[in-house]
Amino acid sequence: MGVRLFFALWPDETVRAQLAAAAAGIELPRSRPVPARNLHLTLLFLGEVEENVQQRLVAGAGAIRAPGFALEFDHAGSFAAAGVAWIAPGACPPALAELVAQLRELAGRCGIATDARPYRPHLSIARKLRRRVPRRALPPIHWQINSFCLVESQPGAAGSEYRVEQSWPLT
Ligand code: 2AM
Repeated sequence: MGVRLFFALWPDETVRAQLAAAAAGIELPRSRPVPARNLHLTLLFLGEVEENVQQRLVAGAGAIRAPGFALEFDHAGSFAAAGVAWIAPGACPPALAELVAQLRELAGRCGIATDARPYRPHLSIARKLRRRVPRRALPPIHWQINSFCLVESQPGAAGSEYRVEQSWPLT
């Protein structure tokens, strides 16, 4: 039996508090808010992964050499079909797109089929949304990214819980 994994950017407590405050200021009727402790930015969802494949992912992630970058979360919106409300950076910095491309390539080398759609960075703040959230500007939240991580998702009755397995620096 494998574990459910994804690569992500994990906010520190300061940024997490700012993101949670921004999320709390957005009206999200009839939805399941993401608890503050679970807020993260997904880089690449991997799905159920066997242990030997996880080891290859960890080795591959450790070999990635990529620069850090800054994100400015400045608007909110939703993916109506997926029932997800999010806050997002106005632009996807080239360094972020390049990191995701490297992770997709790594996943491919490990035999994992991943989302081939263009990457749209978004930080989910509520799920099971039944009404779309009109796109709106937010006072920008600055997040300096210095690392990325591999996270395990554990499904539970009250929604998924996450555990950071390992993280690697971006310098
Ligand atoms: P989301 O926030 O847009 O739902 C853990 O589930 C993370 O992986 C979530 O942040 C989720 O993104 C992302 N993810 C991407 N594709 C997924 C999928 N097919 N199933 C579950 N999570 C997925």
